[in-house]
Amino acid sequence: MKNILPIILLASLTISCTTKQNNSDKTMNHIDHLLSQMTLKEKIAQLNLITALDDYNNPLENVEDKVRNGEVGHILKSNGVKNNFYLQKIAIEESRLGIPIMFQEDVIHGYKTAFPGPLAEAASWNLERIEQTAAAAAKEATASGIQLTYAPMVDITRDPRWGRIVEGAGEDPYLGSLIAKARVKGFQGDNLADSSTLMACAKHFLGYGDAMAGIDYNIGDFSERELREIYLPPFKAAIESGVGSMMVAYSAIDGVPATANKWLMQDLLRDELGFDGIVISDWRTVSNLVKTGVATNNKDATHQAIEAGLDIDMVSELYVQNLEELVNEGKVDIKLIDKAVRRVLKAKTDLGLFDDPYVYFDSVREKKWVMHPSHLELSRKAARESMVLLKNARLSGQEKHLLPLSKSVNSIAVIGPLATRQKDLLSWWAANHSQADKNDVVSLLHGIKAAVSSSTKVTYTEGIILEGFEKKGLELIPAAIKAAKQADVVILALGEEYWMSGEGGSISDITLPGAQPELVEALAQTGKPVVAVLINGRPFDIRKTVESFDAVLEAWQPGTMGGYAIADILFGDFNPCGKLPVTFPQNTGQIPIFYNIKRGSHDFEGIDLKDRYKNNYLDITHKPLFPFGFGLSYTTFEYSNLRVNTDTDIPTVGIKVTNSGKVDGFEVVQLYIKDIVTQVATPHKQLKGFERIFLKAGESKVVTFNITDDKLSYIGKELKPLIEAGEFEIMVGGNSEELLKVVYIRK
Ligand code: GLC
Repeated sequence: MKNILPIILLASLTISCTTKQNNSDKTMNHIDHLLSQMTLKEKIAQLNLITALDDYNNPLENVEDKVRNGEVGHILKSNGVKNNFYLQKIAIEESRLGIPIMFQEDVIHGYKTAFPGPLAEAASWNLERIEQTAAAAAKEATASGIQLTYAPMVDITRDPRWGRIVEGAGEDPYLGSLIAKARVKGFQGDNLADSSTLMACAKHFLGYGDAMAGIDYNIGDFSERELREIYLPPFKAAIESGVGSMMVAYSAIDGVPATANKWLMQDLLRDELGFDGIVISDWRTVSNLVKTGVATNNKDATHQAIEAGLDIDMVSELYVQNLEELVNEGKVDIKLIDKAVRRVLKAKTDLGLFDDPYVYFDSVREKKWVMHPSHLELSRKAARESMVLLKNARLSGQEKHLLPLSKSVNSIAVIGPLATRQKDLLSWWAANHSQADKNDVVSLLHGIKAAVSSSTKVTYTEGIILEGFEKKGLELIPAAIKAAKQADVVILALGEEYWMSGEGGSISDITLPGAQPELVEALAQTGKPVVAVLINGRPFDIRKTVESFDAVLEAWQPGTMGGYAIADILFGDFNPCGKLPVTFPQNTGQIPIFYNIKRGSHDFEGIDLKDRYKNNYLDITHKPLFPFGFGLSYTTFEYSNLRVNTDTDIPTVGIKVTNSGKVDGFEVVQLYIKDIVTQVATPHKQLKGFERIFLKAGESKVVTFNITDDKLSYIGKELKPLIEAGEFEIMVGGNSEELLKVVYIRK
């Protein structure tokens, strides 16, 4: 006989929810009612997240049985209306209480339409666009049966050896916080119950980007001060934006792994930050507690995790194996379980899963929205805006710069293995784990050919073989030189393969991998005009490339429409406007290097020589190759008339920006502040505001920033935000080094 209990329960919940009373008390009453029906086993099941990846001891038939037996609350890596409807139907109709499954996935920079990698998007400083791409990704993912994404990744890092730098928003807490807000807003929209919005998950909580020596999963060691100044702000911003879930990191805080860290998940996250969403472990981090040596066995690991406040166990399945016993032995209070289950049921209610558990499984919607033309166009726009022009020299003896190239140039030699690659234009998650299909990706060569006139001759030469880190294909270099000599201009693709960055993608040396340095050296000798296009997820040591060639464009991993977007810039259909969200070191030895370094006991600013007894090296300067916030344009912007105005209620600083060139363009006007005297050492400068403006050639605009107290505060000795009277240096410009300065006295 068909089990009618689920229908009664669902009906009662549906009635309450579809009457549009989003009254949380009413919702909570119904959740409490459902909770009162649940056995301990069924409660624990709601804290169990399993994978549908059958290479993780979970072949699909196991998944079905577990769902049918009511042992599963969430599934990750199961995608598509067909698969997920099939599993949801089993959960609703065949499990005792018919509680809907929540399907989760890594929709990090697009679902099937791949957008630029997150670090690339951060280089656009275009918060509106970042929100749009998150919303488009949500549309595709929710149309494919997904309700929660493990994004945004908001880890700050200053170490390009760490492969996951590609997944975040770079080195700055202020920019990272605004991007976190934009991504949460884009994914979640205004109403999580809307079937085209996705619950976001801020990760990895926290300090994961401090991995020792840049080696992924290495435990970092940072003070609570650094935690609050650098790593916490983007998570705080995500919580203020209403992020529905958090994921704890593989790493530890003050030696205690995040998964077992009660100070982190209870005192900081719940009590101080007021987060009331769900907390999910990272992949098997409950069982990893044994590997880290802080738990004697899996049961101990389970006990520590639930006591610390972890709601959902991702994939280790230790909660379902041990929690019932721990409760029956009186070691875990059932109230702890109920609290976690209540949060999970609330999340599912907020997602509308109790209103209609099949609303996310509409094959018509899936067909319409996945790879929608508007998403592809959006991906091309986002990619163009993310690219950073690092160099664009004048042609010898001419006013003209090498870029943009003419579309009717006689001949172009395209060189480098990455010029024909497709998968390597996708960032880690799109390339390796998500639904994005490399065959949809527009390669650089394809983009160039599509852009130029029919009379332009375009040749392609591989130059070297790029397969991993060993030097291969040196014998191909002579052919590349020959092709270069026969062409009017060379477009050289350099960078890394997609798998060289991303999770587990740490490298010890940021020299361009493989035989690329040899190819660069050889092409430098030809004397031909060369445009180097970088296709990479992280900063590299590109000194030789910059020194040797006339133009260098950082294209990052630009996504599905990458080749078109790069060509849009190379041939002048779009004026590049990206600004680096992360410092480019001169070499590996400078790492960690970042713009907002704290003032030390010796001179720092203004050193360009190799001085002893200065805040400097002896063999190279302390300066980066390219600073945070740097990016050129096909036009020029001039800054003048920096003024502080204290006549208004809130003091303001204004600056005149003029497009002094011949091309319209975007500029990111950046505001940095230094507090001259503070209780603790603080940075030479900190980003405290920016405005992305568009100026026509010759046009000027006065940009004004409010100097509000939040821009003047810092973390004082008591580890609390502090604002003091005193002298502040206000700096404004187009990057973190070229700045106009003025003093502001706060009374
Ligand atoms: C991974 C990652 C995390 C991801 C999760 C699920 O190991 O650390 O970012 O969301 O597992 O795939």
